[in-house]
Amino acid sequence: MKVFVTGASGNVGRYVISELLNMGEQIVAGGTDIKKLNKLFGNQVEAVYFDFTDKTTFNKALENVDRVFLMRPPHLGKPKDLFPFIEAMKEHNIKLVAFLSLMGIERNPMPPHYKIEKYIENLGIPYAHIRPGFFMQNLSGVHAVEIREKNQIFIPAGKSKTSFIDAADIGLATAVLLHEFEKYKNTTHTITGPEALDYYQVAEILSRITRKNIIYAKPGYLRYRTYYIKKRKLDKEYVNVTVALYFMTRIGTAKEVTDVFNELTGKKPRTFEEFAKENYKLFV
Ligand SMILES: NC(=O)c1ccc[n+]([C@@H]2O[C@H](COP(=O)([O-])OP(=O)(O)OC[C@H]3O[C@@H](n4cnc5c(N)ncnc54)[C@H](OP(=O)(O)O)[C@@H]3O)[C@@H](O)[C@H]2O)c1
Repeated sequence: MKVFVTGASGNVGRYVISELLNMGEQIVAGGTDIKKLNKLFGNQVEAVYFDFTDKTTFNKALENVDRVFLMRPPHLGKPKDLFPFIEAMKEHNIKLVAFLSLMGIERNPMPPHYKIEKYIENLGIPYAHIRPGFFMQNLSGVHAVEIREKNQIFIPAGKSKTSFIDAADIGLATAVLLHEFEKYKNTTHTITGPEALDYYQVAEILSRITRKNIIYAKPGYLRYRTYYIKKRKLDKEYVNVTVALYFMTRIGTAKEVTDVFNELTGKKPRTFEEFAKENYKLFV
């Protein structure tokens, strides 16, 4: 049987796929942009058109599939957006759904991941919830624009610390859960990087690596929200969810460091410095 990977072209999904392929699994890769999937994976996977908001795309995606990597696309801010597909997984007797949730979600019912986790559990689908810290890719992705163009990190996280993790490491840990699905039935996994850094430390590492003077601008929530919605024209739902997440971060929910990555994979998680060196070009 095959593994269906949602968000296959995303930060985490692409690594879930490469690691599952290394483990000899057969993959169905889902998304709304088939060209992107073909470009990324060629004939290594079966690419299917899949849209969480279109029920008619579900059956094809779940054909001969017994495990699913489930992620919530960032612009789908309402938990209900994912419920029809979760119901379809139940009908297809999925043996394990590895859901990409969020660190600290068990103590915070506000972000959509909380209700999604509960919906999966209440339907009785065997699950492995992955609860990672903030991705290092946030800095090389959405926030790299200000780093490159203004030498600034523009994130409303105050002085808080974050145990950043590389999405590639999340992909590997998730692949382990899906490959050894019997062992990890009905489990939760808080996966973090090896250290908690504040954004002043992140700026210092990036300055050293890029040989530029990158500063942490430390904007307030309102300035951040207005800038990303009005200037960067990012999706409002997405920006609102991130404001809630940075609110949690300031309370200290993003700083925990766990050994879970090592326990699952036998490896050490990547440091931010290693990540920044490897991805140097994205910051200059
Ligand atoms: N960033 C963080 O620090 C962090 C930390 C913890 C948890 N998370 C959670 O991780 C999730 C995001 O994961 P990611 O960063 O790997 O994703 P991502 O890179 O933002 O990619 C989004 C993916 O969703 C797919 N997609 C978009 N609209 C879709 C639709 N209507 N139906 C089906 N697929 C659709 C896209 O593929 P197509 O373009 O082909 O449709 C793409 O592969 C979010 O739920 C976020 O809350 C993030």
